[in-house]
Amino acid sequence: MVYLRFWHSVIAPVIAECYCKKNVAIQANLSSMIVEIPNVFTPSAVEDILDKLSKAEFIDGKKTAGWNAREVKNNQQLKADDPLAIALKTQTQTALSQNALFQATVRPKEIHTLLFSRYEVGMSYGTHTDNAMMAGRWRSDVSFTLFLTPPETYTGGELVIEGQSHEQSFRLESGCAIAYPSSTLHRVDPITAGSRWAIVGWVQSWIRDPANREILFELDTARRSIFNSQGKSTEFDLISKSMTNLLRRWSE
Ligand code: NI
Repeated sequence: MVYLRFWHSVIAPVIAECYCKKNVAIQANLSSMIVEIPNVFTPSAVEDILDKLSKAEFIDGKKTAGWNAREVKNNQQLKADDPLAIALKTQTQTALSQNALFQATVRPKEIHTLLFSRYEVGMSYGTHTDNAMMAGRWRSDVSFTLFLTPPETYTGGELVIEGQSHEQSFRLESGCAIAYPSSTLHRVDPITAGSRWAIVGWVQSWIRDPANREILFELDTARRSIFNSQGKSTEFDLISKSMTNLLRRWSE
């Protein structure tokens, strides 16, 4: 958590203008690499996406759930071959490829699967783990939820990530995402008022192990900070060398 604040203050001071911080503190549990990614979409981009989605046809979400997750999945989603889903997939991939924090913490090789989901009152997605392999050939290392509807327009609908000793729940501002290891058990609590629209996605990372992603993120943050204060010093060169050599060693 400390390091993520440091990253925002030193590496990306643009956070001062972050519209995702209205109600939600920047937080992360870096030991498991659960990271909030602010500002993936601007408010006007979210408004445009919600407008398009409101005119689209949604289907039962059970259609894309694994055989056991189907038991607990109760939501709706855009059909994967809907032209709107295809266009929004490209738009989301582009936004995430331009987001420095997402790149630094997730290290995406391929953002291979995206779903556009809608939960109305009474809908939920019970505890489950995501499929390890998706779309025929991609591994899921990182899952993310990109919140679209503002949290003040619905109640319930928290994304809850279950840990060994405690749970963390998230209801972020629209346009902001939470990225977390696909290996976790997680759920979406029932909606009690309004409706919750979100983009959920799965990523194969260049770095499979979250602990290794954490080491790379911290080294990257440290070297960027040194570069900001000292320029291209010997210390910067040595940390850069270690970081890039670990990346060579671990990337797959
Ligand atoms: Ni899931």
